[in-house]
Amino acid sequence: MGTTTALVTGSTSGIGRATALKLARAGVRVIVSGRNAERGLEVVEQIHAEGGKADFVAADLRDAQSAVELAARATQAAESAGGTLDILVNNAAIGAGGPTAGTEESTFDAVLGTNLKAPFYLVANLAPAMAARGGGAIVNVSTLAAEVALPGLSVYGASKAALDLLTKSWAAEFGPAGVRVNSVRPGPTRTPGSEALGEVLEQLAAQAPLGFIADPEDIAAVIAFLVSDEARFVTGVILDADGGRTAV
Ligand SMILES: NC(=O)c1ccc[n+]([C@@H]2O[C@H](COP(=O)([O-])OP(=O)(O)OC[C@H]3O[C@@H](n4cnc5c(N)ncnc54)[C@H](OP(=O)(O)O)[C@@H]3O)[C@@H](O)[C@H]2O)c1
Repeated sequence: MGTTTALVTGSTSGIGRATALKLARAGVRVIVSGRNAERGLEVVEQIHAEGGKADFVAADLRDAQSAVELAARATQAAESAGGTLDILVNNAAIGAGGPTAGTEESTFDAVLGTNLKAPFYLVANLAPAMAARGGGAIVNVSTLAAEVALPGLSVYGASKAALDLLTKSWAAEFGPAGVRVNSVRPGPTRTPGSEALGEVLEQLAAQAPLGFIADPEDIAAVIAFLVSDEARFVTGVILDADGGRTAV
């Protein structure tokens, strides 16, 4: 068997970037992906500097076609390096928010396209090959907003709640072939993407028992566990990494 390779979508920044670095340190070859090639190549360079293996494959994930293309290019990148694409982390997402009334249809479609349709077609195009090889691991990065109502995050939360249901569907569908599928639901995490939330992030964190804002590495650690063999008996789980917010 060749080198285990992971495709981490949205790994040019934040949680995805931290996940790419963490997996590379564990000896996994990582396909870093996102729209921004400059930031993507920086992540790849950092992985190389640490002695790890990585490639950048650009993608603007917005529909089925973009997911099909990324799946094909990532598979090709893995195989031309002598590996197999055994791990998929569906992390790329957009978090457009606002009141329900006045939400443009184009915003609704963009959120659902990137956060739900693209992961669906990535799995549709990558999981069968994992199943044929007898194993693989997929993690969908969800959100606290998929479990509790957070003001202004209705469409975003709905897109991720649907993704969480797909986690269970896919765990049932691909489990008999050895492919595990889990979700991680982060609470407030300090990333370039969440910077715009300003004080709201702190207020959200204060509502949870642990009371602090996570670092991207805190979420990456949970993702890395779920894709590792340490979690070989874990599938169909939606794991809250939210400082205890959903426990109270
Ligand atoms: N930060 C939080 O508090 C928090 C809380 C709960 C859940 N989450 C979830 O965690 C994940 C990562 O969020 P983050 O906070 O790390 O955000 P971030 O720093 O903004 O990173 C988002 C990543 O997604 C990529 N991306 C966005 N749109 C894309 C598109 N159309 N096609 C391809 N890639 C795209 C971005 O890459 P490019 O810009 O290069 O395209 C970037 O690498 C998301 O799924 C988010 O919903 C975050």
